[in-house]
Amino acid sequence: MIAPQRDRFDLPRELCYLNAAYMTPAPKAFAATNDRTAALRQQPWQVTPQDFFTQSEEVRALAARIMACDSDSVALVPSASYAVATAARNLTPEKGSVILTLAEEFPSNYYGWTRLAAEHGATVLAVPGPAEQDWTAALLDQIDRLGSQISLVAIPHVHWSTGAMLDLVAIRKATRAVGAALFLDLTQSLGALPVSLAEIDPDFAVAAGYKWLFGLMHWVICM
Ligand SMILES: Cc1ncc(COP(=O)(O)O)c(C=O)c1O
Repeated sequence: MIAPQRDRFDLPRELCYLNAAYMTPAPKAFAATNDRTAALRQQPWQVTPQDFFTQSEEVRALAARIMACDSDSVALVPSASYAVATAARNLTPEKGSVILTLAEEFPSNYYGWTRLAAEHGATVLAVPGPAEQDWTAALLDQIDRLGSQISLVAIPHVHWSTGAMLDLVAIRKATRAVGAALFLDLTQSLGALPVSLAEIDPDFAVAAGYKWLFGLMHWVICM
């Protein structure tokens, strides 16, 4: 357990805010950063070409630290769906192959794959919601059933609508055994749960910055 952090936020004493899965309150420190940025934008002649890179390099290094990966593997992207589209441009599913995802997956981790599937004559299969929310078992069953027919597994770490968690290490092992790529949406876990990309070793991962990472609009994709 970490010590209480209430002093870092502008939260009224009588309010208990629990909806971090939607959006976290920005820490008070944001105000100072915003003021600095606004002041600089009022005097653009003060902005040097180097400024475009300094902060992004800092964010990439911090993102790499929290995900346990190399900062050169991290890119800042404007949205999770942008990350999916970027990953899709780097994948070539075989004709007739299957892209696996979960039923009621967040749309950003779904529509990009339907387009990729249509372009290559593959299909997207959304694994139906399992009893007791055991998505890991449901997914491993499907990977076992379809084997090397699977070209890609595109899943979250924590399901956005139920909070059910998946065992990414076990799923990575299964995808490797059948030669399938793995795309992860870590939006609902990164910052709240330990995540080691060094251990999981996915092909791609994305996380929205404005939920459990307390960021503004930063997104990361790791390849
Ligand atoms: C699981 C999950 N992924 C991604 C996003 C954001 O997606 P995008 O950046 O494409 O709007 C959200 C936002 O609610 C989310 O809950």
